[in-house]
Amino acid sequence: MTGQNGIAHSIAVASGKGGVGKSTVAVNLAVALAQTGAPTGLLDADIYGPSIPMMTGVRQMPQSRAGKIVPLEAHGLRLMSLGFLMPEGAPTVWRGPMVAGAIQQFLRDVDWGTLEYLIIDLPPGTGDAQLTLAQSLPLTGVIVVSTPQDVATQIAAKAVAMFQQLKVPILGILENMSGFVCPHCGTTAPIFREGGGRRASRQLGVRLLGEIPLDPLVCQSSDRGEPMVTTHPTSPMAEAFRRAADAVAAQVQAGAGAGPAIRMGP
Ligand SMILES: Nc1ncnc2c1ncn2[C@@H]1O[C@H](COP(=O)(O)OP(=O)(O)O)[C@@H](O)[C@H]1O
Ligand SMILES: [Mg+2]
Repeated sequence: MTGQNGIAHSIAVASGKGGVGKSTVAVNLAVALAQTGAPTGLLDADIYGPSIPMMTGVRQMPQSRAGKIVPLEAHGLRLMSLGFLMPEGAPTVWRGPMVAGAIQQFLRDVDWGTLEYLIIDLPPGTGDAQLTLAQSLPLTGVIVVSTPQDVATQIAAKAVAMFQQLKVPILGILENMSGFVCPHCGTTAPIFREGGGRRASRQLGVRLLGEIPLDPLVCQSSDRGEPMVTTHPTSPMAEAFRRAADAVAAQVQAGAGAGPAIRMGP
């Protein structure tokens, strides 16, 4: 997509498995990027479990203008999700190529305008749908979300390997649920072990883009359709998302995974 259709950088957010916070990351990262002043869009390509409508609180049917779908706008983002077009709760039984076709249509037939970043929330896993999508989307790069446990980072490593095989640049690993910051004393307690993302980034030679702490408020926020970065801008989580957005922007400006991996401190 780069350069085409007015979108400078399309960045996929992927994960080896579901439930690691991929959609939470996609939404909050997109908002943090938009807050830097860069026009940003968010495309929900998780056709099997579109959660962007719920997480952004947007549920209208998009309008069309001059034969193109006009993305909905909220939280400073331009948004598109199959969830906007389908009745709520309807299951999607689609094969990989059909998924890819629908997503390509979202790129082609949606009037995104001029965007610096289009963040794409991919379906979880390394199956047929992800493969077809990664091959059919002109991506600047991919961010792999993982939680800190070894078992999760092993699964994330598979996703990294898949995208490497497909020659999609890996912008880095973003660790989510990295410990719990006590709201009373500010110390961090590791809940799902420590440093898994950092270890995996070293082993795989890809950058660690950040560590997003656990925050129980994120569930409330998502259920209300308001991203943490806007509702709790001074929380450790929002700060971590802003740092991650800076790291992503730096990777993209530096030519995205083309050169040797830039690593964070020890
Ligand atoms: N850092 C976090 N702290 C607390 N809860 C989180 C965090 N990240 C995600 N969650 C919660 O975990 C659940 C799964 O997150 P979600 O973003 O839907 O994952 P995925 O898209 O990978 O399936 C959601 O209920 C979400 O609110
Ligand atoms: Mg999701």
